[in-house]
Amino acid sequence: MTKPHILQMGPYPEWDQVPLDEQFIIHRYDLAADKGALLSEVGTSIRGIATRGELGASADIIAACPNLEVIGVYGVGYDAVNLDACRARGIRVTNTPDVLTNDVADLGIAMMLVLSRGMIGAESWVRDGSWAAKGLYPLKRRVWGKKAGVLGLGRIGYEVAKRLAGFDLEISYSDISAKSFAPENWRFVADPVELARDVDFLFVTLAASAQTRHIVGKSVIEALGPDGMLINISRASNIDEEALLAALESRSLGSAALDVFEGEPQLDPRFLALDNVLLQPHHASGTIETRKAMGQLLRDNLSAHFAGRDLLTPVL
Ligand code: 8YV
Repeated sequence: MTKPHILQMGPYPEWDQVPLDEQFIIHRYDLAADKGALLSEVGTSIRGIATRGELGASADIIAACPNLEVIGVYGVGYDAVNLDACRARGIRVTNTPDVLTNDVADLGIAMMLVLSRGMIGAESWVRDGSWAAKGLYPLKRRVWGKKAGVLGLGRIGYEVAKRLAGFDLEISYSDISAKSFAPENWRFVADPVELARDVDFLFVTLAASAQTRHIVGKSVIEALGPDGMLINISRASNIDEEALLAALESRSLGSAALDVFEGEPQLDPRFLALDNVLLQPHHASGTIETRKAMGQLLRDNLSAHFAGRDLLTPVL
């Protein structure tokens, strides 16, 4: 049997690349100097796309592959895949949920702790000799016992809230409706503005879509207020970044810990001038263990499709 041709949108670790190269005929879109020429040359042979959460597959790429059958996303978020184009042509889409949930939740909690306790500045305080020269490090803000809000109580939001409960934080959450699996002492607040008004830390854990775009806008940000912290481990599009920057600059929002940015990996240079942010390079799922599991699930989905078996984790 001839191996299926796959268009690969971004890099994977060697432990994924080697088996991908063995199982499929891989065409590296990310490495092509002339991407248009690559698509003209191989577009009709492409039966699958292997992509990453943040790269997805645009309508143009999908249109350039008329025999495309399946898209495998290495990531839980599929907002960058043009699902309408897929639906219109019956193209299957898969993602890698569950295997990354706990790591993403861990990083969210770590970001809250690191920023609240000023650990990045504290590290420099030791390394640059300030401790010896200037004395005690400035006092920072407590985490335990405060109030946390979780915007989006899906798989990741649930794990974030569970961890927050372990730090003795009081939990509230917003979602389309109250969740039956949430413990009774997690308060459901339908309105994100009301949620923000009532908490010290607001975690954004929503799956991004056209409906959630800028759901964290000026009013949510202002409601969180000058002592509040926003933590985003979902997608940049869930937050109005312009409103966020303005609020951080004017201190009408206390601080923000961010793993995702509009236009990443290029980010708005205004972020770099701020001292009330923690900036992370979209690596919430970035552990060796989780990335190995994500790569395996991506390949298992592609293999299942080409063997005519059920997809393990279908989106479409
Ligand atoms: C990325 C993510 O996919 O799961 C997601 O939706 O955004 C991440 O896990 C990761 O950067 C790999 O591309």
